[in-house]
Amino acid sequence: MDGMTWIVANWKANKTIAEALDWIAQVGPHLPKSEKLKMVLCPTFSALSEVKKAITVGNFSLMVGVQDLSSFGIGAYTGEEPAQLLNQFADLAILGHSERRQNFGETDEMIAKKVQRAGANKILSLVCVRDSDTQVPDGCKLAAYEPVWAIGSGLADTPQNANEVAKKLKTKYGEDISVLYGGSVNADNVTTFVAQENISGVLIGSASLSAEEFLKICKTCAL
Ligand code: PGA
Repeated sequence: MDGMTWIVANWKANKTIAEALDWIAQVGPHLPKSEKLKMVLCPTFSALSEVKKAITVGNFSLMVGVQDLSSFGIGAYTGEEPAQLLNQFADLAILGHSERRQNFGETDEMIAKKVQRAGANKILSLVCVRDSDTQVPDGCKLAAYEPVWAIGSGLADTPQNANEVAKKLKTKYGEDISVLYGGSVNADNVTTFVAQENISGVLIGSASLSAEEFLKICKTCAL
């Protein structure tokens, strides 16, 4: 993953299938062709299949991800979405987002199980941490530093501090872990984060909902 810049769109609980397809039609054909960029779209589960189809048919350079997956396997787990089924669509899973820890009681232990499930089913885990003390489970080589106060607030962390946290995570988990920054990233501030030595990309919530803003972010990072 060295030298790669990740741009991960986290749509959270937003967009109907029609809105998702409209976004893809606006974004897909105009994405920069850059070998150093990994652009990932993480829609809701309900739009996942249609999103995957539209990206495949359009041959767009977007990977598909999910925003969570089950800590259980296939079987009698009502309401769950296991990695064995999600890997039909998804290459990546955002795991341990602070909104899941806060609203759904996710613990480090549950997140570690999810990372195992993902890995066993060829899905790459992107684990979110609030600071450098949050645990990154074994086997996870992609993390996102997301200070809770910066999420959806319009107040991003400073690039310097984000770089420091990323550096601490690398010291703790090894140089081969790639660390993204997330929290109020937009087209105006994205370059200040990706320019940092220890930051390998961004995880974007609100700004990723706009096709125009997301395209701007990708084009800026391709320069
Ligand atoms: P935000 O969300 O870009 O809206 O701050 C980031 C995230 O929650 O991943």
